[in-house]
Amino acid sequence: MSLARGQDNVAVTYRPPRHAELADCALVWYSAVDDYMARLNRPLPSPYLDPLLTMLEHLLATDPERFLVAVRSGDAASARSRDQVIGFGIAAQREHVWYLSQLYVLPHEQGHGIGRALLTQILPSEAADPRPGVLAMCTDSAQPVSNGLYARYGIVPRMPVFNLVGSPNPSALSRLPAGIEAVAFGRSDPSAAAPAIAAAIDAIDRAVLGYAHPVDHAHLRATGRTGFIYRFDDDEPVGYGYSSEVGRFGPVALLDETLTAPVLGHLMNAIRPRGATSAWVPGANDRAMVALLRAGLRIEGFPALLCWTRPFAAFERYVPASLSLL
Ligand SMILES: CC(C)(COP(=O)(O)OP(=O)(O)OC[C@H]1O[C@@H](n2cnc3c(N)ncnc32)[C@H](O)[C@@H]1OP(=O)(O)O)[C@@H](O)C(=O)NCCC(=O)NCCS
Repeated sequence: MSLARGQDNVAVTYRPPRHAELADCALVWYSAVDDYMARLNRPLPSPYLDPLLTMLEHLLATDPERFLVAVRSGDAASARSRDQVIGFGIAAQREHVWYLSQLYVLPHEQGHGIGRALLTQILPSEAADPRPGVLAMCTDSAQPVSNGLYARYGIVPRMPVFNLVGSPNPSALSRLPAGIEAVAFGRSDPSAAAPAIAAAIDAIDRAVLGYAHPVDHAHLRATGRTGFIYRFDDDEPVGYGYSSEVGRFGPVALLDETLTAPVLGHLMNAIRPRGATSAWVPGANDRAMVALLRAGLRIEGFPALLCWTRPFAAFERYVPASLSLL
């Protein structure tokens, strides 16, 4: 735990969250993003925070030492009898890649060093310079504050990521070639894929994303995404992909990028969402960009920017699950 003076000279404390404070973090997220988007003339719709809360619970379970809240202490003598969460930051460490999942500060507390203090306390130790491994995150291209803050640590914006949204028409895409089969996995027990499938997913992730992250795959399946392994009929895996009935698309990781359009088409056919489909497509993945646009999706809003200290993933063969956890 550490102390610092905040904007109104009341001490700000930095400490791990209590479980009951996750809902406060979700409200900080909503206030910070809504305030910033309103200034861009794009206010957020009413909050539906359940998916974010589920993600915060997952990150607290996997990375408790990299989840901090900034609080103003409660005072039994005043109206504020419990600690007030004014900001929070969370990173996920997956093998050698440290990824900043969230960093948000309440609008009226911004610009006073709280975001930087949260960031520096969850960054890997500075003792080794340069820091070991890779530091990465995703920012909003229209947000100079976060881009400037992270770039000072070498985590520089390198690649746009586009949000493609709409009701796709999979018949616009070619079918899986003969000799490639799709096998659904994790339906009966989302927490554990069969050992051979789990090993194949880890190997594909290390080849494409640069690291394996089975805990996040379990989380994806537990929160309603259905996964498929794509393999040659001789059993050799060539990639995997996920989609969901609520329209959240990805992650998709392929060893052979020529399979991009047919795999995306297969996922769209296999799972028909009730509403719109939403996917995050890195600019380097030109094949996914072309395929999804041809299938009828449209670019929504400003692109996000993937930032890193040094390259770690083959984004030309990857479509992430989200921007909070690749
Ligand atoms: C981004 C955010 C977390 C930063 O927290 P904060 O408490 O406001 O930030 P701090 O006061 O600690 O630091 C801001 C830094 O950005 C830098 N910065 C601000 N505007 C900048 C610009 N135009 N160019 C470069 N750097 C800039 C400041 O110089 C400051 O660095 P310093 O400490 O060296 O002076 C907070 O502003 C926020 O929640 N914003 C809205 C939501 C958001 O965009 N979150 C990030 C999503 S990627």
